[in-house]
Amino acid sequence: MPSPETSRFQLTSNLTICRILNGMWQVSGAHGYIEPKRAVEEMFIYHDAGFTTWDLADHYGPAEDFVGEFRKEFAARRGRERLSEIQAFTKWVPRPGPMTRRIVDEAIRTSRMRMGVESVDLLQFHWWEYDDARYLDALKHLADLQHEGRIKHLALTNFDTEHLRIISEQGTRIVSNQVQYSLVDRRPEVQMAAFCRDHGIALLAYGTVLGGLLSEKFLGRPEPRRGELNTASLQKYKNMIDPWGGWALFQELLAVLKQIGDKHRVSIANAGVRYILERPAVAGVILGTRLGVAQHLDDNARVFGFATDGEDDAKIETVLAKSRNLSQLMGDCGDEYR
Ligand SMILES: NC(=O)c1ccc[n+]([C@@H]2O[C@H](COP(=O)([O-])OP(=O)(O)OC[C@H]3O[C@@H](n4cnc5c(N)ncnc54)[C@H](OP(=O)(O)O)[C@@H]3O)[C@@H](O)[C@H]2O)c1
Repeated sequence: MPSPETSRFQLTSNLTICRILNGMWQVSGAHGYIEPKRAVEEMFIYHDAGFTTWDLADHYGPAEDFVGEFRKEFAARRGRERLSEIQAFTKWVPRPGPMTRRIVDEAIRTSRMRMGVESVDLLQFHWWEYDDARYLDALKHLADLQHEGRIKHLALTNFDTEHLRIISEQGTRIVSNQVQYSLVDRRPEVQMAAFCRDHGIALLAYGTVLGGLLSEKFLGRPEPRRGELNTASLQKYKNMIDPWGGWALFQELLAVLKQIGDKHRVSIANAGVRYILERPAVAGVILGTRLGVAQHLDDNARVFGFATDGEDDAKIETVLAKSRNLSQLMGDCGDEYR
């Protein structure tokens, strides 16, 4: 187990998570072939290393089925009573359209069946189009399902601060908002983090290691061409680095993180993850896992054994000061999805 006290976060009174969540977009097919049996077997290794919290979505290929299979195997090998050791957070990402009780019901039932759960631990809702106010209908039905015990906690993903405020003012209790948050994409710092802190909403960060670009593997490397970036994730975050400041500035950031990493005997990725974990309102960082293909468990566990200091932050700031302001270029959190 990574040192239990520092690796865990009390997300709600009855829900504790590992502060590094295992991201399952990486099993969707857009990041290389994943062998199902091997993937499910590897989920035991993550779990046993203390990484007990999974982030998935209805549209991440077989991710919900993998959780269902993992839970089935887990119950058979270790007993049903221990299933509560696993936290699996899914998302519902509906196409715009009517949000009737029947439609919402059906979507959540499908996820529950696939995951093999009576009640979803945390349901993260995404909405594509703010002009279409039916997201409020969907949330009302989701809250009803929560009262009926089909969902334990309600959450959002990629909502901006304005709409998070609207939802909060309607009285819907939102536990967390999942947003892109890294040393390159610091849009949550503009207004989201303060709002969340003031309203008891946690942030779950993704994109923190930029698909793997934030690592020794890319330190000192010439700018990769698109064809060299072999996962959807690497391509996505290269597209963030370009407007942020470009490859040369990114190399400066990697070099500074390498110095910080060497000082604390950790990796570049560790330094980048630790920085985000220490920001206000951040409960956890989601790191994508290509189950059965590549694994960084030992390295990622080191995040829980050190803290960055003022000298590190000052060094990082000298690089970040040269970058462009992504919130001016792109808007608030999640605006790129709209
Ligand atoms: N809500 C949303 O809209 C949204 C959007 C994107 C992602 N997400 C969530 O966030 C998760 C993470 O996805 P992401 O796209 O943001 O990817 P990411 O976590 O930034 O990158 C994942 C990749 O980083 C590399 N990596 C992980 N730990 C490392 C370490 N210690 N050292 C070096 N490399 C390391 C691995 O690459 P290799 O496999 O190549 O070794 C891994 O596949 C997703 O699975 C999903 O759950 C949510």
